[in-house]
Amino acid sequence: MSKSLLIVEHEESLRESLRQMFVDDGYFVETSDSAESGLGLLKARFYDVIISDVQLPGMDCVEFFSKVKEETPDQVFIVITPSASIETAKKALKAGAFDFVMKPVISDEIGQLVRNAIRHRTLLSQNLLLRREIGKDFDFSSIIGENAVLQSIIGQVKKVVDSRSNVLLLGETGTGKELFARVIHNNSLRRDMPFIPINCSAIPENLLESELFGHLKGAFTGAIAAKKGLFAEADGGTVFLDEIGDLSISFQVKLLRVLEDQMIRPVGSNKAAKVDLRFISATNRDLKAGVEKGTFREDLFYRIHAITLQIPPLRERRDDIPMLAQYYLHLYAEELQTPVKGITPEALAVICTYDWPGNVRELQNVIERAVLIAERDNIDVSDLPEGVGVSEMPASRGQDEDFLTASLRKRLTIDNYTKEFIMKYENTYNEQQIADMLGITRKSLWERRKKWGLSR
Ligand SMILES: Nc1ncnc2c1ncn2[C@@H]1O[C@H](COP(=O)(O)OP(=O)(O)OP(=O)(O)O)[C@@H](O)[C@H]1O
Ligand SMILES: [Mg+2]
Repeated sequence: MSKSLLIVEHEESLRESLRQMFVDDGYFVETSDSAESGLGLLKARFYDVIISDVQLPGMDCVEFFSKVKEETPDQVFIVITPSASIETAKKALKAGAFDFVMKPVISDEIGQLVRNAIRHRTLLSQNLLLRREIGKDFDFSSIIGENAVLQSIIGQVKKVVDSRSNVLLLGETGTGKELFARVIHNNSLRRDMPFIPINCSAIPENLLESELFGHLKGAFTGAIAAKKGLFAEADGGTVFLDEIGDLSISFQVKLLRVLEDQMIRPVGSNKAAKVDLRFISATNRDLKAGVEKGTFREDLFYRIHAITLQIPPLRERRDDIPMLAQYYLHLYAEELQTPVKGITPEALAVICTYDWPGNVRELQNVIERAVLIAERDNIDVSDLPEGVGVSEMPASRGQDEDFLTASLRKRLTIDNYTKEFIMKYENTYNEQQIADMLGITRKSLWERRKKWGLSR
């Protein structure tokens, strides 16, 4: 991933030595000897940083800078100044330039300044885009669940976080696709670079190209200023293409090019620029079926799914429901300042058997609502929305009244409840029936039994 610099300097020896120095440091560098030709170069591409002499032929840097800003409002700008022109340099700072260096230019000093400027630029765009997410660190522990399938997915993720392989996340709505994407990014080598989520179905088709690839000023009616696209903003980091299954075929072609050669061309420009992006895509659609039907390009499908993670719906990992419920219960009780501490075994039985079509998100919402309306210390069945309560419980559950009442009295924790349930019924019911009644799989029943030393 090379960062790009534009050096505008009329003194040839200084211009050339700066160019050489930054090229040696791995930057993509272009130079010009006047503001006029610099503006010409800016029509064709974006530069992460512009370094400009304070006095240019025919134009001082303040004027040059204000012209640049008309096209690229958030351009980062560094000024080189002899001590005699320090007042003009200060004006440039007031106009928003990042900093200035004094002549004679010391290479270490300007090198450091450019690195700082780029870091500043990255933080700025990250802050704007991710303000909502500040305070969350998205480490692996933010994915809750001990279900074996979920754990094996986490295991797979841990093995590939540091590679640049593109990841495809499949799963129903609310299963945690975006959560996984953030965890992958935040644990990858790219964690200090941007994570840019793009909801492919939320951006109108006619805006998608300019939003993603950026555009030059005047590229189309209404393009009053140049815009750096989201792909360029994400350079060095991760792009999360959410709802990728909703992209039109024509846009899929444009996307394919970026995935193939990591080059982006802003709308209205004839120059493509190199980027370094990792793509994580997500969809709740069946992309393979899309490929067969011709609504999803096969070549794009192969590019995005180097690693495919299929996140199971909550009803297929019911063993995680108690843990998720507890987690959200404590979270919301604290957030909403309510005294709710637990959940009654009856209510737990209901949420463990419900099918959760909205998956973890739905569970989260149901618990939040229950915490809010619960009148006692424990969430009860009456605190659950009707739809959830209505869900069919296994027929045998009706016979458990004594046990449930006893559990309620003892205010058992979920683990203890499960444990006592197993002990009480293991001679009456077979393994599958117990697992069904608890809403867990036979495998996790077996695992629990092993964990608690309950041999058959
Ligand atoms: N295993 C989990 N542990 C903790 N929270 C989870 C887990 N899975 C999902 N969540 C939470 O559930 C909510 C929905 O998850 P997310 O937005 O990642 O789902 P999604 O798969 O992207 O859904 P959609 O397809 O509707 O966009 C989020 O608040 C997320 O933090
Ligand atoms: Mg999502």
